[in-house]
Amino acid sequence: MGRSFLSLSSLSREEFDQLLNRALAGKKNPSLWGKPLLGKSVALFFEKPSTRTRLSFEVAINQLCGHALVLTQNDLQLSRGEDIADTGRVMGRYLHAIMGRVKSHATLEGLARSAGIPVINGLSDKFHPCQALADFMTIKENGIGAGSKFVFTGDGASNVAHSLILGAAHYNCDITIATPAELLPHADVLTIAARLGGKVTVTQDALAAAKDADVLYTDVWVSMGQEQETERKKKQLAPFQLNEHLLAAAKKSAIVLHCLPAHKGEEISEAAFESPQARIFDQAENRLHVQKALLEFLLK
Ligand code: CP
Repeated sequence: MGRSFLSLSSLSREEFDQLLNRALAGKKNPSLWGKPLLGKSVALFFEKPSTRTRLSFEVAINQLCGHALVLTQNDLQLSRGEDIADTGRVMGRYLHAIMGRVKSHATLEGLARSAGIPVINGLSDKFHPCQALADFMTIKENGIGAGSKFVFTGDGASNVAHSLILGAAHYNCDITIATPAELLPHADVLTIAARLGGKVTVTQDALAAAKDADVLYTDVWVSMGQEQETERKKKQLAPFQLNEHLLAAAKKSAIVLHCLPAHKGEEISEAAFESPQARIFDQAENRLHVQKALLEFLLK
């Protein structure tokens, strides 16, 4: 049975550190990677669109000398009713790992149960753990260490917020989630974070949250598949925009992160997005490096 990566809670704190350190070392010196995926095939399965996840995984697999197969739901008999368990059982006979971007987290759990090979969460409705690995790699790369103050402003019930909460617990930094009372992080995620030793503050005051922050982070207000909620969420989240006022309240050394794609003028102001403090495109690049570290870790 392969070891899957559906959430950061499946890693120990030591493994989380090890992945960040390996990704940072490999970014500095790509010759360290070798050919850990030689002769190995990895499916990249997408129920939703992607730019960064698709490109970073496909390039990472190629650079580690493996073979990537990009599949959408319409490429498979899933589109004609074959169930996920049988699909997983078949995939496990041909492949060495599956990365899945899915609508429902249960689909990944079903694949992991049936395939018998590592399944990696490339985004589900519940978590986005590969993104959070790149985010904490970027924080570490910028010299922001344990004990720092991480502020997420936006939808506290989102997959990104959930994974940042668990990542902060592993990284041993305080995380504040500034979010409307209707969009609180899910209780089960807060329970897991507490078990991992995390310190999470939830507030409805984004400006107060930003005071002395080391990291300011936001994400789009309307996630893929939530388009029918656009007007309601725009209204709810307007007071949570990452902008110059939040930047002014944060430490002078604070960095701005966004997992992309961005809707400038909504969750982030143009000025904050283009600020010299923004590390958004380093963060996007770091998807490639952590993906390599993760594939090496799961497939070695
Ligand atoms: N941040 C992120 O997951 O980007 P994509 O949706 O483009 O993969």
